[in-house]
Amino acid sequence: MEVEALRRRRTASAERGVGERLTASWNLQGRVALVTGAAKRIGRAIALDLAGRGMGVVVHYGGSADEARELVREIEAAGGRAWAAQADLADRQAAAELAGTARELAGRLDVLVNNASMFPKSTVLDFEPEELFANVDVNALAPLLLSRALARQQGEAAIVNLLDTRIVSYDREHAAYHLSKRMLHTITRMLALELAPRIRVNAVAPGVILPPPGKDEAYLEELRHTNPLNSIGDPADIARAAAYLLEAPFVTGQVVYVDGGRHMLGGAYA
Ligand SMILES: NC(=O)c1ccc[n+]([C@@H]2O[C@H](COP(=O)([O-])OP(=O)(O)OC[C@H]3O[C@@H](n4cnc5c(N)ncnc54)[C@H](OP(=O)(O)O)[C@@H]3O)[C@@H](O)[C@H]2O)c1
Repeated sequence: MEVEALRRRRTASAERGVGERLTASWNLQGRVALVTGAAKRIGRAIALDLAGRGMGVVVHYGGSADEARELVREIEAAGGRAWAAQADLADRQAAAELAGTARELAGRLDVLVNNASMFPKSTVLDFEPEELFANVDVNALAPLLLSRALARQQGEAAIVNLLDTRIVSYDREHAAYHLSKRMLHTITRMLALELAPRIRVNAVAPGVILPPPGKDEAYLEELRHTNPLNSIGDPADIARAAAYLLEAPFVTGQVVYVDGGRHMLGGAYA
């Protein structure tokens, strides 16, 4: 796999010409992004950030139809272009078809941000096989199916996957989630090689940003001390990192940890 990807990359750089360098940013203006799970929280921040950079945004949602439509209205009111698209990413066929739907709605598709995710509790000694498969379906397989669908079209594109700083440590209370995010990390690296040089594939690994639904700020405060910066991040930090990776023409297969330095500590949560 790696040798073939390297060969394709060398051929492409030879075609570029001797001395030519990838200096300019990949221009997001006028392109279209599909952001999964974009109706709320971090996905919403990413969608707004990309719309602010001149991108059309397809706001994917699962159950949050009202919030998705409200976000589309907000982007349009600010002079941008946006469309809402529903799909249950636990349904493999629906996941595979979503990229095509986005392209039909917006007329083109250049960027995929795999943000949607489930975060249920489970432990490695107790989870049922179905719990593992459910996490893998939504958190890893759906991003892969969407990426494949994007790759089947012609032209350049860029993908950003949302991981979690926990991939380099261990979250005992979310074991199936942990495994699915580790899988998505590996998928990021595999696709970065397979799809080069036409499509760049990178990831952002957030740390303490927002409490899970049902928890409040006290949950985050308890975790503040778990990172060297003794801090809590903001969804806008994640959006900026995603935008950097989308625009960076010489970066692929990379993970940007936006986690106050937590990834350097390793160890287990809980
Ligand atoms: N929050 C944090 O501090 C944090 C920390 C580390 C990593 N992350 C990662 O960053 C990303 C965003 O985090 P977040 O906390 O904003 O995510 P979230 O609120 O837990 O989930 C984002 C969206 O995913 C969608 N989703 C879940 N299952 C789905 C399904 N079966 N089909 C379709 N959509 C589905 C939901 O859309 P609907 O509401 O429309 O159903 C949900 O609003 C995630 O990948 C997460 O793992 C977040």
